[in-house]
Amino acid sequence: MELFKIAQIASAYGQSLVSFGIDGAPRPFSASFAVSNRCNIHCSYCNFPNMDPTELSLADIKTIFVRLKKMGVKRVNLMGGEPLLRRDFLEIVDLAKEQDFFISMNTNLLLYEKYKDKLDHIDYFFTSLDGNAESHIANRGKQSYDKILSAIRDIVNRKKKLIAICVVTDPDIAIAEYLLDLADKEKILIHFQPECYDTEIVQRSAPNKIESHRIRGFWNYLANRKRRGAPISTSLEYIKYIIEWNDYSISSYYDKQEKCGAGRGYIFIDAAGVAFPCGYTKGKMEGISLLTRDWNTQFDKLTPCTKCIVGPMLEFNLLFKKPISSVMNALANI
Ligand SMILES: C[S@@+](CC[C@H](N)C(=O)[O-])C[C@H]1O[C@@H](n2cnc3c(N)ncnc32)[C@H](O)[C@@H]1O
Ligand code: SF4
Repeated sequence: MELFKIAQIASAYGQSLVSFGIDGAPRPFSASFAVSNRCNIHCSYCNFPNMDPTELSLADIKTIFVRLKKMGVKRVNLMGGEPLLRRDFLEIVDLAKEQDFFISMNTNLLLYEKYKDKLDHIDYFFTSLDGNAESHIANRGKQSYDKILSAIRDIVNRKKKLIAICVVTDPDIAIAEYLLDLADKEKILIHFQPECYDTEIVQRSAPNKIESHRIRGFWNYLANRKRRGAPISTSLEYIKYIIEWNDYSISSYYDKQEKCGAGRGYIFIDAAGVAFPCGYTKGKMEGISLLTRDWNTQFDKLTPCTKCIVGPMLEFNLLFKKPISSVMNALANI
């Protein structure tokens, strides 16, 4: 990975952090963009495939990327839905490249074979792996497991970094052990995140029965494995935050003593080009269309929640709340 790009991100993040610290103007350094809501599978916990399938034109995407660049964003994550379903996906990557962004993507890898020789501009890959074949298929359907391991191997062989995200629907230590052994063997990292509930981009509400003791046991086990050097990308602070979470039936809440880094340091842009502080806040507040409006001057810094255990959002938030340990962890991952 180019040191220059990392230095650029570090500098933009530093400015976001200062602005967050002094309660200054929003200054996101990173943006996640759902290029499509469409998907080729229907995972049990995800609502993207049920959302509006309308997509932005390349011209509109260019408008948004130009705006992001002017706002000081240095890192763009292309996600969905399934981004590789867009026939013009490579042109979207080219538009991101034109603005010199550090480009990452989230993909289920089902269409990887078709694209494998054309993804050179992707700096970092995220995919989804929920455990062994049985547990993965239970969450994501049979088709989702076919060829995923060969696609992962091919990405690693091309000297690209890859993190596989495991959505923890069942806190089963044997499944985590399986994934960590696999990660060691395949030279990838695993990010564990709790299934989150009750927002527009997810499917399900919390189950009636929550086994808090079992959940805490699972995350304590991950903390110990992380301390002993297991290939876990998730930071120790993130894991500790989850262990200390009081009620696992809720993914986020508003605490007026706290402020969140979402919207100030990073943003989410939906498939219509409307920006929100993070994906979890879509549907809980009014967004700002980046086709016509500027985020840094228009966002009022108010978020519907200030504490959460939502997927990668918590990791981003900790970059602002626990910057030193979070930066050390991020550096270890690259
Ligand atoms: C929305 S997907 C988009 C990228 C791609 N289609 C994929 O599945 O990797 C991004 C990540 O969110 C995760 N995800 C989806 N629904 C979730 C939920 N309810 N709670 C936590 N993570 C979730 C997915 O497993 C995936 O790793
Ligand atoms: S998690 Fe990814 S692969 Fe699964 S339905 Fe959602 S967008 Fe599609």
